[in-house]
Amino acid sequence: MSENDKKLGLSTRAIHAGNPPPEPGAPVVPPAVMSSTFYGGEGDESGALRYTRYGNNPNQEQLAAKMAALEGTEASLLLSSGMAAIALTVLSEAEAGDHIVASCHLYGATQELFTHELPRRGIEVTFVEPGDEAEWRAALRKRTRVLYLEVPTNPALRLFDPRVPAALADEHGLLFAVDATFASPVNVRMAELGAHAVIHSATKYLGGHTDLIGGVISGSHEVVGGVRDLMKLYGPSPDPHMAWLLDRGLRTLVVRMARHNQNALALARWFAERPEVEATIYPGLEGHPDHALASELLDGYGGMLSVVLKGGGEAADAFAKAVTLALIAPSLGGVETLISQPRFTSHRHQALEEREAMGIPDGFLRISVGLEDVDDLTADFDRALWESQR
Ligand SMILES: Cc1ncc(COP(=O)(O)O)c(C=O)c1O
Repeated sequence: MSENDKKLGLSTRAIHAGNPPPEPGAPVVPPAVMSSTFYGGEGDESGALRYTRYGNNPNQEQLAAKMAALEGTEASLLLSSGMAAIALTVLSEAEAGDHIVASCHLYGATQELFTHELPRRGIEVTFVEPGDEAEWRAALRKRTRVLYLEVPTNPALRLFDPRVPAALADEHGLLFAVDATFASPVNVRMAELGAHAVIHSATKYLGGHTDLIGGVISGSHEVVGGVRDLMKLYGPSPDPHMAWLLDRGLRTLVVRMARHNQNALALARWFAERPEVEATIYPGLEGHPDHALASELLDGYGGMLSVVLKGGGEAADAFAKAVTLALIAPSLGGVETLISQPRFTSHRHQALEEREAMGIPDGFLRISVGLEDVDDLTADFDRALWESQR
């Protein structure tokens, strides 16, 4: 983040940070530079070797500067997906024989990466209940290199204090990485709470329009540089058009998040009053187990909301069939309201008992609350709740 950016508010950074300086005749919106390579690199004055796989296409650089300004970090790097950002952040720090300690509440693909893929490469992972400092501490080994947390969690929307693993990581010289996709940098800037690597699936709130796949990692020059080195070798570099689309999305991130936060809170309160609903899960409700922590750490409770319907899977299926405005689809963070049942998507490989232990029984609906008029959403959900209990 530049010194100038530090003086600006988040909305202003989201619009202006990273843009080239204004010059007469230059486009106000930086164009997508659809070129894989660039003149130069042969002993020219700058010595710059520009190549889009290196992440130094102008769109990639502008986007990275904007993200660093939003996160308040030295640097950021855009990659071709959230999973690329997660995998390469971990691999940049850990090699065969090393060890990682991770929260047991993780997005399904991250869980699979840590459970199957990393061990295949000689990197062991210990999962801990992240609210318990003693568990983090007890899991540490001589060759532990990374502590890994995801908050808020998917889909149970739990929040765990990142300052606990952050302090432990600092004490032992480890990398502390946090996936803050569900919050976005508008609701929390994890580097301020001690994260060394802040990861987002840009596919979600950052892009915001359900039209791109991308990932971002932010941190010090050293941390981001390590990930960039691997991106050059493994190759999950973002294409310039995606970077351009993401920049367009970021300009409205702050106002979109405000509306996501507002709509989701209103809907959570509405669901909480409904007799067809067994549980309404939203960090902004006083009954949520992490409400106090969420109120302390977050600037908004987020756009994700989960409900458990009376009547289990059958009721959830009937609800999903009955909605006409909300759309049934995985993913989240876009302008449109999306609904998914984790038993068919992120948690389809888990047995019912396992899911129940994680607070995801049959009847569980995950709702990515969009930017529609809330009265239209409640009208849609009112009808679907009625259908769910027939
Ligand atoms: C919390 C979280 N992290 C990471 C990812 C992976 O992101 P992507 O699909 O962009 O690779 C997802 C995708 O749903 C997610 O929900």
